[in-house]
Amino acid sequence: MSKEIRENFGSKIGAVLAAAGSAVGLGNIWRFPIETGQNGGAAFIIVYILCVAILGLPIMISEFIIGRHTHTNTAGAYRKLAPGTQWKWVGRLGVLSGFIILSYYSVVAGWTAEYTKLSIYNSFDGKTATDFPAIFTNFVSNPWKPLIWMLLFMIVTHIIVIRGVKGGIEKFSKIMMPALFIIMMVLAICSISLPGASQGLEFLLKPDFSKINGSTILSAMGQAFFSLSLGLGCLCTYASYFRSDTNIGKTALNVSIIDTFVAIMSGFIIFPAVFNAGYTLNSNDIGPSLLFITLPNVFQQAFGNIPLLSYIVSILFYLLLVVAALTSTISMHEVVTAYLSEEFNLSRHKAALMVTAACSTIGIFCSLSFGPLNGIQLFGMSIFDLFDYISSNIFLPVGGMFIAIFTGWYLDKQIVKNEISNNGTLRIHYLKLVIFVLRYIAPIAIAIILLNQLGIFKFF
Ligand code: PHE
Repeated sequence: MSKEIRENFGSKIGAVLAAAGSAVGLGNIWRFPIETGQNGGAAFIIVYILCVAILGLPIMISEFIIGRHTHTNTAGAYRKLAPGTQWKWVGRLGVLSGFIILSYYSVVAGWTAEYTKLSIYNSFDGKTATDFPAIFTNFVSNPWKPLIWMLLFMIVTHIIVIRGVKGGIEKFSKIMMPALFIIMMVLAICSISLPGASQGLEFLLKPDFSKINGSTILSAMGQAFFSLSLGLGCLCTYASYFRSDTNIGKTALNVSIIDTFVAIMSGFIIFPAVFNAGYTLNSNDIGPSLLFITLPNVFQQAFGNIPLLSYIVSILFYLLLVVAALTSTISMHEVVTAYLSEEFNLSRHKAALMVTAACSTIGIFCSLSFGPLNGIQLFGMSIFDLFDYISSNIFLPVGGMFIAIFTGWYLDKQIVKNEISNNGTLRIHYLKLVIFVLRYIAPIAIAIILLNQLGIFKFF
C-alpha cells in the first residue's frame, strides 16, 4: 500500500456526481444515438433499458460492495477478498480495459475540443452539407491536429487526477455535472421545438421489434456496460472512496437513472434536429460522422434563420461533449493510477504520470489510424475500431460476468449484507433479489449473449 493517506469523497452527493460523471460521457451522447440509429430506434432503447435494469444495476451494486469494503484499487480489492486465488485477474483485466478505453476515448474527446473551438470561431457559418464531410476528414486525417487535442485532453485529465479525490475529482464533478444537465435541457428544448421534430421523436419512441436479433442484444449489452462504466472496476475504484454512510443501492440506482436519462435526452437533442434538417438516417450518417458531419450541418440548417441561435447551440453542444468526456476520462485514469500507486507503492504523481504517458502513446496510434495509418487493419478493423470492439463488447461484459459470479458465489454473504445495509443501519428488501440475479441471471445471460455473438454456440 502507498504510504499516502487514502482520501474519501467529502459528501454523498459528491460521490453520486463523481460516479455519474464517470458514467455519463461520450458513450451517452456519441455511442448511444449511433447504436440506436443502427439498431432500430426505440426497440433498441427498450432492450438497452432491460440490460441496464437486469444486468447493469446489480453489477454496479457488486462493484460498489467490493470497492467500499476493501478501500483499495480494483486489483488490490480481489487480492484482499480472495487472497491466493486467481480472482486477481478480474481486477487486472479491468485495469487493462480502463487503460485501452482511455487510449482511444481521448482521441474522440480531442475531436470534441476541436469542434468546440470551430464553433466558437463560428467556422460552420455559411457552410453547406457538402462542406462538412471534408472539414471532418481533413481534420481527422491531419497527422498533427487531432494528436495535439488528444494530448491536451490527457494533460487536463492528468491535472485533475493528481489533485486528488476530494480536491480534484469530486470538486470538478460537482461543478461540471450540474452544468452538463443545464446545457442538455436547453439543447433538448431547442431541438424539440423545431418544426418536424415529431418525426425524430417518433423514431425514438416507436419500437420496431423486427430489428432485434442476437447482435442487437449484444450491442445493447455492450453499450449498457460501456455507458455505466461497468466491468472494469471503475466504479469499484470510486466506491473505495465512498464514506461508510453512503447508501450503495440508492447510489447505484441514482447513477443508472442519471446515465439512462442523459442517453435518452441526447436522442431528444439529436434526432428531432436531424429529421428537421430533412435527413433520413442511413448508414453513412451514423458512425462518428453523426456528431461531426451530420450535426454541425443540422445545427446550421435547423437554427439557420436565427444565426445567433445556431452559433450558441453548436458551442453548447460541443462543450457538453467536452465536459461529459472529461468526467469520464478522469475516472478511467483513476482506475489505472490507483492501481499503479497502491500495488507498486508509487506516489500518486508518479503513477499518474506513467498512465498519462502510456495512454498518450497508444492514443497516438489510435488517432493516426484515421490518417496516415488508416491502411492498417487487424481482424478487419482499424486500430481504433478494434480497441473499441474488444474493450466494450468483450472485456467489459466478461469483466461484468466475473464480478457477478464473484459477489454472487464467492464473496461471504455477510459482507454483501453489511455493505448494502451499512452494517444493519439501513432497511433493505432487495438483498435476496440482487444475490439471485448475480448468481444466475447475470452470468448466464452474459455468457449466452457473448457465446452467441462470437459464433461459438448459436442460441438464436
Ligand atoms: N461511461 C463512459 C461513457 O459513457 C465511458 C467509460 C467507460 C468511462 C468505462 C469509464 C469506464 O462515455
